[in-house]
Amino acid sequence: MRIAVPKEIKNNENRVALTPAGVKELSNRGHEVFVQATAGIGSGFPDEAYAKAGATILPTIEETYAAGDMIVKVKEPIEPEYKLIKKDQLVFTYFHFASCEPLTHAMIESGSVCLAYETVEKEDRSLPLLVPMSEVAGRMATQEGAHYLEKPYRGRGILLGGVPGVKPAKVLVLGGGVVGTQAAKMAAGMGADVTIMDLSLPRMRYLDDVMPANVRTQMSNEYNIREAIKDADLIIGAVLIPGAKAPHLITREMLKDMRPGTVLVDVAVDQGGCIETCTPTTHENPTFIIDDVLHYCVANMPGAVPYTSTLALTNATLPYAIELAEKGWTKACQDNAELRKGLNVANGKVVYKGVSDAFNLPYTDVDEFLASTAGSMSVD
Ligand SMILES: NC(=O)c1ccc[n+]([C@@H]2O[C@H](COP(=O)([O-])OP(=O)(O)OC[C@H]3O[C@@H](n4cnc5c(N)ncnc54)[C@H](O)[C@@H]3O)[C@@H](O)[C@H]2O)c1
Repeated sequence: MRIAVPKEIKNNENRVALTPAGVKELSNRGHEVFVQATAGIGSGFPDEAYAKAGATILPTIEETYAAGDMIVKVKEPIEPEYKLIKKDQLVFTYFHFASCEPLTHAMIESGSVCLAYETVEKEDRSLPLLVPMSEVAGRMATQEGAHYLEKPYRGRGILLGGVPGVKPAKVLVLGGGVVGTQAAKMAAGMGADVTIMDLSLPRMRYLDDVMPANVRTQMSNEYNIREAIKDADLIIGAVLIPGAKAPHLITREMLKDMRPGTVLVDVAVDQGGCIETCTPTTHENPTFIIDDVLHYCVANMPGAVPYTSTLALTNATLPYAIELAEKGWTKACQDNAELRKGLNVANGKVVYKGVSDAFNLPYTDVDEFLASTAGSMSVD
């Protein structure tokens, strides 16, 4: 198969969809890989490394899109890319269709096959291509929180781990899933006094077993949250209710109960945020202050650490990309239920229920769709 890797053009996106190691894996299997010039530079991979691994370097985005039967990307295509995507071309990337109607219509009209990283799903309902970015964001949440607690950044002026003779900072983590666990682990490692609140008792039992002694768990409810915020120095929002907006566990009115300089890092901001006063910010301007409480609400935290994020993402995506290249999307999706869940839009049809529901579009069952396309494998 011919596989093309364009350079990401979304603002401040430095990740790339394949590393030179990934190119080597694919070309060793007899596939042709095309990489747009400088696509990997933001993640530390120069064109020469890709060429050495067997890729052909193409100078423009137009030539790169035109070269591939499968386009492998990181971010959802943005408007200038819509017209570059052709009928029957397979596009394997994050799409987040439900949050962008113009993208959904553009992909339906293109006739392409859109396999979305974020809906590839394992039997246990985990999302293997979202987990790596949650791991990055969780670890970063503590790092950023510790930074903004410093006085020059208008934080309380407290060192997360304290020092001998001085108590450490108190960190409250709302949600003990992937983000929350990684955030708590980092905070505990730095010596902070950490509390994780979640609704799931089995999850808290697990966390209680595996976390060090300076991490405790507590049931998430309004009473406990109101008590904990009074003396928390850093509060990390990491809740997720799949397919729904995050609940506002901290309301605007609760800010007055916090101490001046308390830092809020709402990682769940991409789902609306679990802190009412959080609105999405960018890496250029990541924070704002309301009622003396500092808010950090960057919606694409992993974008700030592209070296780590690219490797974390491609470690997870490459096995799927190889399967798609080896079998073609039709057979790969028939054989592998995880990949099948990733199909969102294909040959002009919406085959993912959440996307059809979001925009009231006709829905085609993915199994019926695959059965009807078997035998006409134009991209395979
Ligand atoms: N800002 C970013 O750059 C970025 C990056 C990655 C992930 N995220 C977001 O971070 C959020 C968390 O992701 P995740 O991968 O950890 O999800 P997850 O499903 O692994 O964990 C969510 C946890 O929240 C818990 N929860 C649900 N309701 C709760 C409540 N009322 N109180 C306390 N806990 C509650 C669940 O029991 C679960 O343990 C998501 O919104 C995700 O999109 C943001």
